[in-house]
Amino acid sequence: MSANSGGTAKIGTDWRVRARQPVGYDVRVLNGLLSPSNPALAEACGTAPGRSPRCLLIVDDSVDVLHGDRLRAYFEAWSIDVEWHVVPGGEQSKNLDEVVAITEAMTGMGILRRSEKVVAVGGGAVLDVAGMAAGLYRRGVPYVRVPTTLIGQVDAGIGVKTGINHGTHKNRLGSYYAPEVALIDPEFLRTVPKRHIANGLAEIVKMALIKDAALFDLLELAVHDLDAAAFADGEPGGPAVEIMSRAIGGMLDELEPNLWEEVLERSVDYGHTFSPSLELRADPPLLHGEAVAVDMAVCVALAHNRGMLGTADADRAIGLLRAAGLPVTDPVFTTDLLVEALRDAVKHRDGEQRIPLTDGIGSATFVHDITREELGEALRFVRERAGSDTVLVRAAR
Ligand SMILES: NC(=O)c1ccc[n+]([C@@H]2O[C@H](COP(=O)([O-])OP(=O)(O)OC[C@H]3O[C@@H](n4cnc5c(N)ncnc54)[C@H](O)[C@@H]3O)[C@@H](O)[C@H]2O)c1
Ligand SMILES: [Zn+2]
Repeated sequence: MSANSGGTAKIGTDWRVRARQPVGYDVRVLNGLLSPSNPALAEACGTAPGRSPRCLLIVDDSVDVLHGDRLRAYFEAWSIDVEWHVVPGGEQSKNLDEVVAITEAMTGMGILRRSEKVVAVGGGAVLDVAGMAAGLYRRGVPYVRVPTTLIGQVDAGIGVKTGINHGTHKNRLGSYYAPEVALIDPEFLRTVPKRHIANGLAEIVKMALIKDAALFDLLELAVHDLDAAAFADGEPGGPAVEIMSRAIGGMLDELEPNLWEEVLERSVDYGHTFSPSLELRADPPLLHGEAVAVDMAVCVALAHNRGMLGTADADRAIGLLRAAGLPVTDPVFTTDLLVEALRDAVKHRDGEQRIPLTDGIGSATFVHDITREELGEALRFVRERAGSDTVLVRAAR
């Protein structure tokens, strides 16, 4: 801290406080997380001196039903006393009431401020709301993330963002609050429905388009076999393991140097320009990855129409999204609503469009001057492709 005195109009001394907050957390991909012989989760729960270990388990309701017995058996085997708090999966739980309910569970069990952990096990929605509650309670108590969906494992569960929705806006309230560790076991994916596997593939296609052409090639080859079992049973060196690993590694490479988003030009925002305003407005609502996929298709078309992306690559990109079982159009994506969504993105990005576009598969750049006419043209381009089978055949090559 430094003090400055002087200055004629001052009545006292001014101070400037400077501090840095170190952040370090592990992202571990492992098999058999709930096998009683695996110490990883028990170690993450920590122990309090002189007390038997306890944790607050925030568990997604689907995970409770599908994996609850294994979770109970695991904690029993390690003699960890668990306060069990079930949260419904999905967007319905990303609200302030749920944040408050989780903090009340912390008060109810009398959680120790540092040595007893909040352990969140579930999809991206449950991780978002549990992380926000952990960051608010006593201004921050340690928490552990165990993502159980594909989006959770490659995206929502490995960064530091938490959030809840407000009105029709996604993640309008939230924080940056790092977990102590993220534990990723692909075995959880065995029970994830097909639509939600496709949902996660959207974020993986995003990583491929913005920075990893080899990942794109892998996805094109493997996409028709990438079901829940392929991820759950993935062999080391096999396509599913390689795809997960490249997606997670690529994402962490992008996040680490810009964890608090001081730089607002983020290539991982690809597909997240229009989708945050439209995801919850679609009727029926789109899943997060589905909205991102439709947004990405628009962005592929925008890049193509500006001459940044060749027709063959644009067709490959849209073809891969479709082959992954994702939508590339939706009635809520109209020119008017795209313009409105862009207006909100500009506020989010501090007055500039900063739209990431691919200028070749595996590479991204930013544009700041997209017009209404271009958005209309882009929608027409995608609609033409959405009706064509040739792009799908190419992706299945
Ligand atoms: N914080 C971030 O950085 C970040 C990044 C990407 C996405 N997100 C958020 O993540 C959310 C999307 O995450 P999601 O796709 O995991 O959706 P989700 O959390 O809504 O989960 C989808 C459904 O799957 C169920 N489920 C969870 N695990 C399961 C399992 N192993 N087997 C069967 N069903 C299971 C859930 O109960 C839910 O019904 C969105 O709210 C999005 O905004 C956050
Ligand atoms: Zn996303």
